Amino acid sequence: MAEVKDYSKYFNKPSLKEAKSRKRLNVNIETFTTAKSMADIGKGKNYHIKTYGCQMNEHDSEGIAGILEQLGYVVTADETLADVLVLNTCAIRENAENRVFGELGRLKPLKVTNPDMILAICGCMSQEEAVVNKILKKYQQVDLIFGTHNIHRLPEYLHEALISKERVVEVWSGEGDIVENLPRRRANSVKGWVNIMYGCDEFCTYCIVPYTRGKERSRMPADVINEVKELAAKGYQEVTLLGQNVNAYGKDFKDRDYTFGNLLEELRHLDIPRIRFTTSHPHDFDELMIATLAKKGNLMEYVHLPVQSGNDTILKRMNRRYTRESYLQLVRDLKTAIPGVSITTDIIVGFPGETEEQFQDTLSLAKEVGYEGAYTFIYSPREGTPAAQMEDDVTEAEKKDRLRRLNEIINKGYLDGNMRFQDQLVEVLVEGPSKNDETVMSGYTRHQKLVNFKADPAVIGKIVQVKITEAKTWHLFGELVENASDTSA
Ligand code: SAH
Ligand code: SF4
Ligand code: F3S
Repeated sequence: MAEVKDYSKYFNKPSLKEAKSRKRLNVNIETFTTAKSMADIGKGKNYHIKTYGCQMNEHDSEGIAGILEQLGYVVTADETLADVLVLNTCAIRENAENRVFGELGRLKPLKVTNPDMILAICGCMSQEEAVVNKILKKYQQVDLIFGTHNIHRLPEYLHEALISKERVVEVWSGEGDIVENLPRRRANSVKGWVNIMYGCDEFCTYCIVPYTRGKERSRMPADVINEVKELAAKGYQEVTLLGQNVNAYGKDFKDRDYTFGNLLEELRHLDIPRIRFTTSHPHDFDELMIATLAKKGNLMEYVHLPVQSGNDTILKRMNRRYTRESYLQLVRDLKTAIPGVSITTDIIVGFPGETEEQFQDTLSLAKEVGYEGAYTFIYSPREGTPAAQMEDDVTEAEKKDRLRRLNEIINKGYLDGNMRFQDQLVEVLVEGPSKNDETVMSGYTRHQKLVNFKADPAVIGKIVQVKITEAKTWHLFGELVENASDTSA
C-alpha cells in the first residue's frame, strides 16, 4: 500500500503533555467571521452531524451546523446524501469511543459511493493523541480532524480539504480562546443552551475532560446576559447555562469579583420563564448560590449535584475536594433553603481499588440523599489520567453487580420523586407531542419531571398547568387544567 503523506498546511496533532499544562495567563475573546471567499463553498450541498456525549457537545454541534449553513450547506437527515458528514465525539468512557470507531467502519462504504464526501471527526476524541494516531493509521476514510478549541476555523479547514484533496488535521492542545458570535442552528425552539464557561480545572483523577476541553475560561457576564435576552426575545421559554463546573464561573476574571451566584442574581430579573444550569461541582457551591436559588421565580427547584462516591477515601483518590459529610451538609442546606428541591447526581462504581465496604457507603449515601435521578457509570480507565495508573483489582463482574445494586436504589428514587406529585397541580413547559402518541403532549415540570397529557398541539411552547393523575418510574400522566391563568411560581 502506498504511503499516506499529508502535505496539508493544516497538520497539527494533539499532544497530551501540552493539554496538561495551564501556563497561559490570558484568554482572548475573538469574534467569529467567515471570509467572503468561502461564503458559498457549500452551495447546493448537504451536511449531516452525529453528536455523542454531553450537552456541551450537543451545543457545539449547533455551532457547527450554524457555520455550515452560513457556508451554504443544507441539513439532511439522510447520511447517504451528505457531502459533509461530521462526527462530534465524546471521550468520557471507552464504550463511547468504541461506538465512534464502529461508526467509522460502518460509514466507510459511503466514501466509495460518494468519493467527494468529506468525513470529519471533531469533539473530545479528536483532542486525544492516541485516538488521532489510530485514526490516521487505520481509518483512511477520515478527511478532516479538528478539535474542541478551533470549531470556528471550520470554514478554512473545509476549504483546504476540498481544494487540496488531502487530509486536514488541526487540533490545538493548549486552551483555546473564547469565540463570540458563532452562528447557531438551534435544535429546539422552546429551550436553548447558553455556554457560560469552557474547560475544566478540577482534574478529577478519572476524568479526561480537563485535557480535551482545556483550561477554565468564563464568558463575560454581559455576553451571557445578552444571549439569554436574545433567546427570550425569540420566544424561548427556557435556557440551560452550560459549563463543566458552573460553580467555578468567574473565578478566572482578573478585573472583577463576580461569581456564579452574581450571574444567577442578574439572570433572575430577566424576562425568561425558566433558567437551569449544569453541572455544579459540590465543592464550589456557595451561600450566595443557595440563597439566590431559594428566591425561585425563573430559577428552578432542581439541582444536578454529581457525588461520584459516598466514601471519603475514594473521594480523596478521585480528587473531588469534598467529604461525604460536607456533601450531605450541602444537601441539607439546599433542602432547607429550597423546600421540595429535586436533587439528581452522577455516580461511578468500581473506581480502582473500591472495596465492597466503600461501595456500601455510596449505597447508603444515595438512600440518605434521596436522589430523584442519577447517571450511574462503571469506571472506565482513560489514558493519561492519574486514575489509569492506579491498581484496579475490582473484577468486571463485581463492577457490573455494583452498578445493578446501585441502580435498584436509584430507580426507586425516580419513582418516589414522581410519586410526590400525585394529585398535584404542576407547571409544564410543553415541548411537543409524545414519542408514541400524536394526541399526547410532553414536557417538563420545574422539578424536571417528564409529564404526558392529552392536549391540542396549540399548547406547544407554552407553560401550562397540569393535574397529575398517575405517577410511573420514568414519567407522570396528567390532565390539562384549562384557563389556569396564573403560571407564576
Ligand atoms: N463536568 C461534569 C461531568 C462531566 S462527565 C461534572 O463534573 O459534574 C459526566 C460524568 O461522567 C461524571 O460526572 C462522571 O460520573 C462520569 N465519568 C467521568 N469520567 C469517567 C470515567 N473515566 N469512567 C466512568 N465514568 C466517568
Ligand atoms: Fe471531569 Fe471533574 Fe471536571 Fe467534571 S469536574 S469535567 S468530572 S474533571
Ligand atoms: Fe464527552 Fe467531552 Fe462532554 S468527553 S462528556 S463530550 S466534555
